[in-house]
Amino acid sequence: MSKVITSFFFLYLFTLTLYGQEWGKTLFNDQWKFHLGDQPEAKSVSFNDEKWRELALPHDWSIEGAFSKEHPSTNQGGALPGGIAWYRKTFHLADTVGGKQVYIDFDGIYRDSEVWINGHYLGKRPSGYTSFRYDLTPYVKFGKQANVIAVRVDNGRQPNSRWYSGSGIYRNVWLITKNKIAIDHWGVFVKSPYVQKERAFIQQQTTFKNLGPKAVSADVVITVFDKENKVIVKKNFPQQLSLGKSEASLEVQVPQPVLWSPENPYCYQIETQVYVGKQLMDQYKVPLGIRHFAFDAKQGFSLNGQRKRILGVCMHHDLGALGAAVNKKAMERQLMLLKEMGANAIRISHNPPAPEFLDLCDSLGFLVMNEAFDMWRKKKNKFDYSLDFDEWHRQDLIDLIKRDRNHPSVIMWSIGNEIREQFDSTGTALTKELVAIVRIEDSTRPITAALTETHLEKNFIAQANALDILGFNYKYEQYDSLPINFHGQKFIASETTSALATRGHYDLGHDTLRFWPPSAKEKFVKNGNPDFTVSAYDQVAAYWGTSHEQAWKAVKERDFMTGLFVWTGFDYLGEPVPYDFPARSSYYGIIDLAGFPKDVYYMYQSEWTNKPVLHLLPHWNWQAGQTIDVWAYFNQADEVELFLNGQSFGIRRKQGDDIHVSWKVPFQPGTLKAVSRKNGKEVLIKEIKTASKPARIQLTVDKNKLHTGINDLAFVTATIVDNDGNPVPLADDEMVFDIQGPGFVAGVDNGFQADLSSLKGNRKRAYNGKCLAIIQAESRTGEIVLKASAKGLEGAELKLAVMKMMNE
Ligand code: GAL
Repeated sequence: MSKVITSFFFLYLFTLTLYGQEWGKTLFNDQWKFHLGDQPEAKSVSFNDEKWRELALPHDWSIEGAFSKEHPSTNQGGALPGGIAWYRKTFHLADTVGGKQVYIDFDGIYRDSEVWINGHYLGKRPSGYTSFRYDLTPYVKFGKQANVIAVRVDNGRQPNSRWYSGSGIYRNVWLITKNKIAIDHWGVFVKSPYVQKERAFIQQQTTFKNLGPKAVSADVVITVFDKENKVIVKKNFPQQLSLGKSEASLEVQVPQPVLWSPENPYCYQIETQVYVGKQLMDQYKVPLGIRHFAFDAKQGFSLNGQRKRILGVCMHHDLGALGAAVNKKAMERQLMLLKEMGANAIRISHNPPAPEFLDLCDSLGFLVMNEAFDMWRKKKNKFDYSLDFDEWHRQDLIDLIKRDRNHPSVIMWSIGNEIREQFDSTGTALTKELVAIVRIEDSTRPITAALTETHLEKNFIAQANALDILGFNYKYEQYDSLPINFHGQKFIASETTSALATRGHYDLGHDTLRFWPPSAKEKFVKNGNPDFTVSAYDQVAAYWGTSHEQAWKAVKERDFMTGLFVWTGFDYLGEPVPYDFPARSSYYGIIDLAGFPKDVYYMYQSEWTNKPVLHLLPHWNWQAGQTIDVWAYFNQADEVELFLNGQSFGIRRKQGDDIHVSWKVPFQPGTLKAVSRKNGKEVLIKEIKTASKPARIQLTVDKNKLHTGINDLAFVTATIVDNDGNPVPLADDEMVFDIQGPGFVAGVDNGFQADLSSLKGNRKRAYNGKCLAIIQAESRTGEIVLKASAKGLEGAELKLAVMKMMNE
């Protein structure tokens, strides 16, 4: 099977599914009522919710709670509360909508949601990550009569997740009104059997829905627009739309296609219009990214005919201080930081993402491994999805593929992560079943799974011989045995590394890699740091992982390994290996929970990009008598020379497969300076100075204009500096952020994994000199004035303009 599919993979073309481009689809996020706790009567229309809190979605109630050891989610789930809650919304539909079909789309509710409209039960969805639609048509009223939608969310059965899930309607909700003749839900699938230099052949599989009263003749018009919105192709397809559902395969050609890639994520737009006579019945416009790719057992991966290494990171879905509540601007910030680092790929672990995340991967240029499950029938936690798997896996998997198959960013489907059925014969049949489901919905992309068992005779998922690519997590020492044990197969390092670090914290005097915890015998490290820190020299890893350098080298040196996904791009809430509570968020990230890069970020930047990098660590505030390991990550240069207060400590060149250079330097206060040179010519200089006492706050912000109507965010970094403006590396003063004008503080964070103060509110201690405030724009325009203060320090102020979007 895999060989047939592979030759098929060579040439493709896909569209993007840009939510909100579907005709009649509008956001339905405002003016919901919320109640934490169970209230079964709330499903009935007559229930009085006047006293409930009013809020706008997306909303995550867990992040509003306090960290505690007592929460049944445990610190693995972020030590935040779960529980049961209700949401209600009262709304009116104009008389003009009468006669139309009315639907509601939920992009995701965590978890076990049940929905009622005007007292009628619409259904339940156990998975917290699936997107689904209900038909409201038979139950809604128009004109002056009100409608009530009620949603019960049950995240009370805990633990049900190995990481922080969030709770509630944490993704967008949409209301859709449609004519009786329309394009079906997720009814457009664009693909192409050929992409050539002269033209791309586009084949659009379209499903129509005709709800009567009779079959009709329609004109389906397909239009392709280029990036400048110029019409490239327009073609009319007369169609007979029979009652119920009907399908058509429609073909157009794009001349001299500009291909989509991470470096040039060029998107066309493709629009489908359905006319009956002169009347436009439906319209669906999606971005269209054209590209082709191949996996080869020896040569690795190629995109648009060019060899390329998949340089990826794994990501969970939380957005730090914002919790799980979807915010496109926060996702964009994460992805931009990863892009700057040189990553070109993301593994969405281990569940379907928010649609907006994939929209961003399309437009910013990331290759995506889209993963369906973290478990099948065999559980990893007492109340996890294994309980729902039998009843729901088919539906959830189909919905994921149908929703996401138009994204050019998505280059493979993963049917599971470290699935326990890989160890016994039940895994073989299930693999075949899941692969078959995926292939029916999308035969154009390879299917993989993230495995751990490296011997075929013990790996019952691989034995199904149904996967196109075998993903392996960790076990880099065994990479060379893979082509022998799994002859002729293609491989990806679906998960690597699991190194640990706290930003800005350095343990001196450890030259060897430490494993925390050292083996499966200990759940938590016994002799870790008493303050719950982990050193940010790349020298600590969980026992199943290794250092960033080691894991990267293992992939870099092997062409057959098509790429890797580092665990993880960002720290995430939950799974705080190696410590028990009070640790409550992970140490794995290349970037901390607040979005501040750890040192190893620059290791990747020096290896994965061509921009000149010179990064020096650690800070330079130590005690006399201490000997400090000084490391430099660099590229685009042959050597680095280190100076302390003008005195040279020698020139270092990378030897063999070195990824950093280092010196041992007896501490003296002053200026540490590194100079990188190529052919004797200076490339970059980096200086770090010993800071004196904290004196003032310095604010920097990623933008100075915000827009209304899109939950726009500004990320403000507050750095504590001394009188001369040097960052004070260990400062931990508490900062208070006060706002005037049309905005509010949406979250605060310092990135420290064991800080138990709230991520909400407007105050936070700095950690290792830094703190983040996330400022969200309200719906009115004006000027936000943000004041940051801390006892004994000179405060700082910044201004942000809040304006309307151009097209508002
Ligand atoms: C992997 C697992 C991830 C995460 C990671 C931590 O085995 O797939 O979800 O738990 O370990 O190191």
